[in-house]
Amino acid sequence: MESSTGKDFKIGECQGQKVVDGEVMPLVLLPPEPAKADTESLVAALKKNREWFDQMIIKNSAVLLRGFDGKNAEDFNEIVEACGWDDIRYIGPAPRTHIYKRVWTANEGPLSEFIYYHHEMVLFKENPKKVILFCEVPPPEGGETPFVPSFRVTERMLEEFPEEVEEMEKKGLMYTFTAPSANNTSSMRGRGWQDAFGTPDPAEAERRVKAMGMDVEWLPDGGLKTIIRPRSLTRVFEGRKGRRMWYNTVVGMHGKEISSATMIDGTEIPDHVVKRCGEILDEESIQFKWEKGDVLFFDNMALLHGRRPSLPPRKVLVATCK
Ligand SMILES: [Fe+2]
Repeated sequence: MESSTGKDFKIGECQGQKVVDGEVMPLVLLPPEPAKADTESLVAALKKNREWFDQMIIKNSAVLLRGFDGKNAEDFNEIVEACGWDDIRYIGPAPRTHIYKRVWTANEGPLSEFIYYHHEMVLFKENPKKVILFCEVPPPEGGETPFVPSFRVTERMLEEFPEEVEEMEKKGLMYTFTAPSANNTSSMRGRGWQDAFGTPDPAEAERRVKAMGMDVEWLPDGGLKTIIRPRSLTRVFEGRKGRRMWYNTVVGMHGKEISSATMIDGTEIPDHVVKRCGEILDEESIQFKWEKGDVLFFDNMALLHGRRPSLPPRKVLVATCK
């Protein structure tokens, strides 16, 4: 079931693939022949087909490179650099460790926890256009990185809750998020404010938060509460067929211990709407099983992604690009 793209890749298939609005997600690209599975050949193929490859990511929202023999962060970094996109530094609550050049660990929070579907850095003014993941050690069980075509969530929410959706859209949203006083790796959102904002200096952290267009409140326990407003419920990005993306993190932040999501005037978002949205996200999700050496490219404007609970060991690395 493989056909040649006429380029330097063969098109493959993977378990869990779906066809969404006429496009297969993810598009699976394989080496054109076994002798070209090495990283050097892959890097050459990516450099040669940069424009085409970029178009495939926009068109299919997710592209999975499979069957290549990238082994580690160094190989992954070369693959990322071959694509020619600029790096964007990760800002946010997830505990992550820098590994090599543009490569970081993905969220190091406990493997037993589900990481909720999100657009990467959705609350920040500048978000990555591309999120690239590399599987160094596939999990023995679980640990998938499911992803969701964002426009489908908007469509289904509009079908079920047209009035609520329009009210949230019209008013706009407000979030709060509290970064603790220090790192706490026992929580997947346990990134202390020093790490989250890249400085040990409280005044500088405050300046950085404000520079991102957010408000700040220091808590008695030394935590930093960030107030984020206004934020939209959905967004339409150029070149994405006019699709209205569910570009918010209401489900992830609503009614949590360290975060909240409300309408901008303080109106609560009804629990049953948030709960149903969570179910829709799950129903629309695309699941595939990680294989060693997989490189997965997401159009972060078009897809939400998450992480299923996993048995150890699991090692997935990440790079984010402008
Ligand atoms: Fe993420």
